[in-house]
Amino acid sequence: MRILVTGAAGFIGFHLATRLLERGDTVVGVDDMNAYYDVTLKEARLARLRDGRAKGTFELVRADIADRAAVEKVFGSGRFDAVVNLAAQAGVRYSIENPHAYIDANVVGFLNILEGARHHGAGHLVFASTSSVYGLNTELPFREDQNTDRPISLYAATKKANELMAHSYSHLFGIPATGLRFFTVYGPWGRPDMALFKFTRGILAGEAIPVFNEGRMVRDFTYVDDIVEGIVRVIDRPAAFRVFNIGNHQRVELMAYIRAIEKALGKQARLELLPMQAGDVAATEADTSALEAATGFRPATPVEVGVKRFVDWYREYYPRVRRMEAGKLRRLWIAAGWGFVFLVIYLSLTPEPLPAPSVDNFKTGHILAYSWLMLWFAQAYLKLGIRLVVAFALCALGIGLEYAQLLTPHRTFAYSDMVDDAVGVAIGLVLAGTPLGNALARIDSSRRRPTA
Ligand SMILES: NC(=O)c1ccc[n+]([C@@H]2O[C@H](COP(=O)([O-])OP(=O)(O)OC[C@H]3O[C@@H](n4cnc5c(N)ncnc54)[C@H](O)[C@@H]3O)[C@@H](O)[C@H]2O)c1
Repeated sequence: MRILVTGAAGFIGFHLATRLLERGDTVVGVDDMNAYYDVTLKEARLARLRDGRAKGTFELVRADIADRAAVEKVFGSGRFDAVVNLAAQAGVRYSIENPHAYIDANVVGFLNILEGARHHGAGHLVFASTSSVYGLNTELPFREDQNTDRPISLYAATKKANELMAHSYSHLFGIPATGLRFFTVYGPWGRPDMALFKFTRGILAGEAIPVFNEGRMVRDFTYVDDIVEGIVRVIDRPAAFRVFNIGNHQRVELMAYIRAIEKALGKQARLELLPMQAGDVAATEADTSALEAATGFRPATPVEVGVKRFVDWYREYYPRVRRMEAGKLRRLWIAAGWGFVFLVIYLSLTPEPLPAPSVDNFKTGHILAYSWLMLWFAQAYLKLGIRLVVAFALCALGIGLEYAQLLTPHRTFAYSDMVDDAVGVAIGLVLAGTPLGNALARIDSSRRRPTA
């Protein structure tokens, strides 16, 4: 199947794309790689999707789904057998601070997806909704036929709007559409703004962790593999408009969840008990009988098992990131050492007695330094893609400038000499992960566009 997954670099999108690739589907991912949370985590997820080990093929289009023309182009690239819309501005509390991000991504963006499905067909449109739509409902477990007209955050309101928009498009244009109300999803490669991630980080750092409503919260925590299993089963069963809960159908007290994290980490948490936060609901629990009747599946991973898998991933992933950072530093030291050796050789080759410092000596030194830098980039940063190419080009420019200045007769120092030094600084900026370097890296990965 050829499947469009929006939000493919996100937590759930990454797991879903992984699963679809394993079974041999062609996955076109769309993600704008926004900085709502650590972009390197999104990039690391993408790197795994691209490693080519799975049967299926993956390509990413870096685009904002609120960009009408970009979405139209994606749908124009060929018919999709299914479209799974996971791209959204997620998070309840952030919607109070930054409401426009929610309307742009979740309402305008979703309309663009609906329009794409309308004009190009979509086999089956599956889209993410949330348990937050139950808002002020207090009758647990939440069933799909309960009233959801009383959301208490703009995030929930946009997701409820998605359900209504999808219903009207499904009715008008005959698009099979299924909305999935996810209940607090957790697991490896999770979202850093969610409780499990924050608690794990805080406990390991020995910091007090913020516990809202003084711990009197109840959540239906759902392991990400169960969410993915539910989505895949739903994708394969298109039908006219439906909405399903996907939850673990269990009430877990927040304090029990924290105890499971402590147990997995082997370390006790320090708690900072805080009042309830605006926009949050006190309790959730899913009734999943409708999902089970339609797909024969209901989530079942116990919280202790899922939390342990998250903690194992976290312990493996973050030291690896730190090791990579440490590795870069080590290479920098090695490079500095080589630079010193180079300087000593250069000085020992110059005629005795050492000539007085002159423009020519100075320039020759620069040329050697640039040449050495090129060699160093080649061995140290082979995986930097376009950054490496740009750094090479800048080095070559530096060498050219130095030669031009060297060949100019009767030279004296001038401000113009600083131009090539500026080139040297630019090389550093490109490579050091500055906004310029990151922008180049983004251009690099957006080169992979869908084939028409
Ligand atoms: N994780 C949960 O507990 C949970 C619960 C209920 C509902 N959901 C919904 O499930 C979906 C996936 O959530 P997640 O936890 O994986 O979140 P996530 O933030 O990790 O993933 C969303 C991805 O979409 C991308 N994105 C955001 N806005 C975009 C835009 N305008 N254009 C293109 N890409 C955009 C982001 O860069 C991100 O990679 C979301 O729709 C979310 O609202 C999640």
